[in-house]
Amino acid sequence: MNLKGRVALITGASSGIGWQTALAFAEKGARLAVTARSADKLHELADLIRKKGGECFVAPADVTDADSVRQAAELVGNHYARIDILVNNAGFGVFKPVLEMDMQTVEEMMNVNYFGMVRFIQAVVPIMIRQNFGHVVNVASLAGFMAAPTHGAYAATKFAVIGLSEALREEVRPQGILVSTVNPGPIDTPFFERADLNHIPPIARRFMLKPDKVAQSIVRAIEQEIPQVVIPGGMVPVIKIKALMPNLFARGTGKLYRRKP
Ligand SMILES: NC(=O)c1ccc[n+]([C@@H]2O[C@H](COP(=O)([O-])OP(=O)(O)OC[C@H]3O[C@@H](n4cnc5c(N)ncnc54)[C@H](OP(=O)(O)O)[C@@H]3O)[C@@H](O)[C@H]2O)c1
Repeated sequence: MNLKGRVALITGASSGIGWQTALAFAEKGARLAVTARSADKLHELADLIRKKGGECFVAPADVTDADSVRQAAELVGNHYARIDILVNNAGFGVFKPVLEMDMQTVEEMMNVNYFGMVRFIQAVVPIMIRQNFGHVVNVASLAGFMAAPTHGAYAATKFAVIGLSEALREEVRPQGILVSTVNPGPIDTPFFERADLNHIPPIARRFMLKPDKVAQSIVRAIEQEIPQVVIPGGMVPVIKIKALMPNLFARGTGKLYRRKP
């Protein structure tokens, strides 16, 4: 898909990966709709895009609130009369051993990272079906392929996203809709204001990427119709090794993550 003139709705656009993706899409000539809870930050982003000659509609929403999600999708659909791209990106992480994780945080993470995504898919994909055209990009994570110690509750939300995406991809393919997952490793964003960076091993911290790299990968996933993107690409063989030797791999990551920071 050529992004020029396409209507793209991005969740979690008030910060980090979502913010950079909105800017990258605007560069390509897409017409933007941005959502998150922080309306002030969304307006700041929209002003920035408009100053550069782009188009940006602000539709604040809390992904944990079904009515708020439905309203946002409706506002965007009415404003542009179509939605071509949905980037499901809103999310957060808390890293703690499973036995120390309070249930409220476990449920909140699943509610935002997974149920929030389902809510936006159910609100937007019917619009795409009416158009017989669309692309859904779900931002999962490397944690959706491998769950290191202290990442259990967060990884569960991302395993869920990958499973959901796999099924949805084949359900909506006949209606001309594509589904991709984009799976980043550690990225330097405000995500780590809540997630404890000490639970990422030093080697991974050293190779931490900036969010604009993920934004470029999302653009590529859409332009080149790629179902699954891993960032950095060097992690693809690691995922394959894990699939071939899961027990050995788990023990290796266990050792790596138990090492003192
Ligand atoms: N950074 C990483 O290392 C990394 C790695 C792999 C995957 N990811 C994934 O990438 C996505 C974006 O993360 P990021 O790194 O860009 O983090 P970020 O800078 O903290 O951005 C998170 C975004 O999610 C939004 N959000 C959180 N809760 C929400 C809610 N209840 N309703 C609506 N929006 C909500 C936030 O907006 P408001 O607070 O304004 O609502 C914000 O825009 C997440 O799904 C994350 O799991 C991140």
